[in-house]
Amino acid sequence: MKMLLLGSNGQLGKELERQLSSVGSVEASSRSVLDITNHGAVRDAVRSIHPDIIVNAAAYTAVDKAETNPELAYAANVEAVANLAQLAQAERVWIIHYSTDYVFDGNKSVPYVETDNTNPINVYGTSKLAGEQAIAESNCQHLIFRTSWVIGKDGHNFAKMILKLATEREHLNVISDQLGVPTSPSLISKVTVDAIRAIKKNSAWPQGVYHVAPQGVSNWHEVAQTLLTFAERQHVMISASAHCVQAITTAEYPTAAKRPLNSQLDTQKLRTQLTFDLPHWKDDFLAVASEIVKELQKA
Ligand SMILES: NC(=O)c1ccc[n+]([C@@H]2O[C@H](COP(=O)([O-])OP(=O)(O)OC[C@H]3O[C@@H](n4cnc5c(N)ncnc54)[C@H](OP(=O)(O)O)[C@@H]3O)[C@@H](O)[C@H]2O)c1
Repeated sequence: MKMLLLGSNGQLGKELERQLSSVGSVEASSRSVLDITNHGAVRDAVRSIHPDIIVNAAAYTAVDKAETNPELAYAANVEAVANLAQLAQAERVWIIHYSTDYVFDGNKSVPYVETDNTNPINVYGTSKLAGEQAIAESNCQHLIFRTSWVIGKDGHNFAKMILKLATEREHLNVISDQLGVPTSPSLISKVTVDAIRAIKKNSAWPQGVYHVAPQGVSNWHEVAQTLLTFAERQHVMISASAHCVQAITTAEYPTAAKRPLNSQLDTQKLRTQLTFDLPHWKDDFLAVASEIVKELQKA
């Protein structure tokens, strides 16, 4: 099984590069090697590498900046994805792509299922939804994994920001009225490997969208407290401990892009295909927290 991995320098891309080698050979391309908005270069790469699967972890993910740079978000999240999908269709190549809970408006009171109506409330979510639609319309063989709140040991993310702020300040304010769960790149990669094993055995999962997230429900405030409690136990020097984290509302923390209040993803459809059990979010997140803290202590 030959895979072309795009966006290999991102949080997810780095972990995919580590895990995909267990199912075949991986041609990993970061943006500096292959910019997915360069349609001709992508076409040439696909034709010369002849992958069985294109795994696209590349995306424009700056949610707030997308509000003022919609053309950048659209170039990477829509036009480049449409190009990939057309190539995948023409070359009979599978495409595995990642999307987001931000395709929903967050007004539902229970977890979202794959067939729920989409209604993005920011430019990033709108661009990611258009990318999903471009793949579906191309008729290529595809799996789209919608996930939420990606936090891993690589790259910039919420956990690293909270740890940094907790060393600089004695009190932190963190939003508590957005519901969801952090998802590790490690879990998303494990799901991807499971799906690829099925393709390899000629028993591919039914094409389409799958929601990928650990079990349970949380909010940013609880995630921050969980992280700081863990960090304190590991003797990380912080000024703001878990009980110094004040819960605030989304309205009290205005951002350029609106965020959905409900980011919960129902994973029943995924669980019918997976060969392993999804972990609880706290176990998934604490494994990441442990790696981040270890890196911090090494520095
Ligand atoms: N982060 C989240 O909270 C979250 C939540 C839900 C879904 N997702 C989805 O999960 C997937 C992975 O996200 P992530 O957290 O790993 O994001 P990330 O850390 O921002 O990584 C995205 C990667 O894409 C690369 N990239 C951007 N534009 C590119 C282009 N034109 N050509 C080639 N590469 C390009 C970036 O390159 P540079 O390093 O050069 O910038 C970066 O390495 C994305 O589809 C994202 O939409 C993420």
